[in-house]
Amino acid sequence: MKKILNLFALRHSFYNINKNCPIEPSEITDIIAKCMELYPSAFNSQSARLLILFGAEHSHLWNLVKDAVISVSPPEKHSGVADKIAGFANGCGTILFFTDTSVTDKLKAQFPLYADNFDNWAYQGNAILQFMIWSALAEQSIGANLQHYNPLIDEPVTKAFNIPSTWKLVAQMPFGGIGFVPQPHQVEKLTDKFIVYGL
Ligand SMILES: Cc1cc2nc3c(=O)[nH]c(=O)nc-3n(C[C@H](O)[C@H](O)[C@H](O)COP(=O)(O)O)c2cc1C
Repeated sequence: MKKILNLFALRHSFYNINKNCPIEPSEITDIIAKCMELYPSAFNSQSARLLILFGAEHSHLWNLVKDAVISVSPPEKHSGVADKIAGFANGCGTILFFTDTSVTDKLKAQFPLYADNFDNWAYQGNAILQFMIWSALAEQSIGANLQHYNPLIDEPVTKAFNIPSTWKLVAQMPFGGIGFVPQPHQVEKLTDKFIVYGL
């Protein structure tokens, strides 16, 4: 198999994560910064923004998430919610992905013909960045998973971490040392999923 495919095969949704990260936080942020330089974006707009939390700040985030989810859940669900969120807090850090709407708003005004596409393209670029970081961390034996507690947590996150008003939260990626490696996801048969002509 090609090297890059081997790397893709290392990435999973790692839910069993812990505080034993095999590399230093500064190395993790270097990897993330490199992905930020390399990811492609529509019109090279580079509208993705990140908040990277370690240690107490990471714990603070998951406490906020827990409070927000519990505030909208029936009492019988509270302990399940707390357990699930404790699993994310068990990691050593979290990356929050945002898109900067000031960038897309400018593009919409500049290129009215494509105005309807820019939000969608910003999400697509953001997703590519998420995948690059998720895979690059897996290569370093750091397990990550992808969560979407937005928009429920938008307001508390903006307040707690002093986020610019134009940054819109897209996803949360807790990461940490790997407790266990999950089975690869089940792959549906590829029959009828792609068409190839001209071979
Ligand atoms: C766009 C997208 C949204 C996802 N949202 C969530 C989520 O909110 N919570 C979660 O636990 N996993 C989420 N996942 C993870 C998927 O459930 C997971 O990637 C899929 O089941 C395949 O498993 P794998 O990641 O181990 O290959 C998301 C994945 C993608 C690509």
